[in-house]
Amino acid sequence: SAAEKGGHEYFMLKEIEEQPEALANTLRGHFTEGRIVLDEQRMSDQDLRDVDKVFVVACGSAYHSGLVAKYAIEHWTRLPVEVELASEFRYRDPVLDRDTLVVAVSQSGETADTLEAVRHAREQKARVLAVCNTNGAQIPRESDAVLYTHAGPEIGVASTKAFLAQIAANYLVGLALAQARGTKYPDEVAREFHELEAMPQAVQQVLGTIDQVRDLGRRLSDSRAVLFLGRHVGFPVALEGALKLKELAYMHAEGFAAGELKHGPIALIEEGLPVVVIMPSPKGRAVLHSKLVSNISEIQARGARTIVIAEEGDETVRPFADELIEVPAVPTLLQPLVSTVPLQVLAAEIARSRGYDVDKPRNLAKSVTVE
Ligand code: G6P
Repeated sequence: SAAEKGGHEYFMLKEIEEQPEALANTLRGHFTEGRIVLDEQRMSDQDLRDVDKVFVVACGSAYHSGLVAKYAIEHWTRLPVEVELASEFRYRDPVLDRDTLVVAVSQSGETADTLEAVRHAREQKARVLAVCNTNGAQIPRESDAVLYTHAGPEIGVASTKAFLAQIAANYLVGLALAQARGTKYPDEVAREFHELEAMPQAVQQVLGTIDQVRDLGRRLSDSRAVLFLGRHVGFPVALEGALKLKELAYMHAEGFAAGELKHGPIALIEEGLPVVVIMPSPKGRAVLHSKLVSNISEIQARGARTIVIAEEGDETVRPFADELIEVPAVPTLLQPLVSTVPLQVLAAEIARSRGYDVDKPRNLAKSVTVE
């Protein structure tokens, strides 16, 4: 009913709007007496100190949350982090031992490939920490430890609030590791946590762009394809933006690392092709920012219709943006939490304009419990 959907036509828009709350609930209680605390600490500080390698295994959007987290976890802990699709991980011969931490990320906690990856990791004596949104699901039951995301039930098949919550939870894992290993001083861990705690407010601010993005979505609904470009943490955001568009609008969409533009994707640019570019902050990563500005000018010169997600006040990008969507300034590693939101809205609106069922896209299931 309309009431269940909070007055919206579909659940997904309600769930997009619930993201500030989902983030706040996921972070709540995880910083007490100056320390990061995970949920069911069946792993001691000593266990966390012994970790010498991290794998993140997951499917779909959860996999993209792992790709984002790799940047933060490696930066904070100096541990190597590999992120792998659960369906690939389990069929090769990954190098694992008891000092390997495998983080299994799953909204449902029931995805067959992720569950099998967990079983495989445990057989190799690796320690498994589940990041899960569903209490008591199979993946947390079979893991050594669990950190719950508290996004609340997600009805829309395409993940939105669970995805943002997964990024936040993965970051908590990174901070817990940094704290145990001493790669960050306690005051730095505290500062990172407080920056995370400020994100619900920043996401609330991005929700203010919904009407602008929906209008854009209506104007793009006839496009045949859409490309997404990003760099650094903006690269997995580009992948997630493209996945959303495939899932919901059944549109050909690809995410690319902007630095690869000249190695192939630029050949796809033709008159009128919409290209969504996720800009890094001009302050945080100035070098990457200027490289992306030149990428945008190159594709615009070749006829692309540029849709630019940029930090508010980023004037340098304005001349190259056919459409500009502004997001609040946040620390670089936290940018995916704001820049993903307009991409979710865009995909949902294009799907709606095309007359598709936003909450139940064809051929897809909320949780894939068979291989
Ligand atoms: C399905 C859903 C996606 C989700 C993926 C992984 O494909 O449609 O939205 O990201 O499964 O699901 P999980 O429950 O393991 O996070």
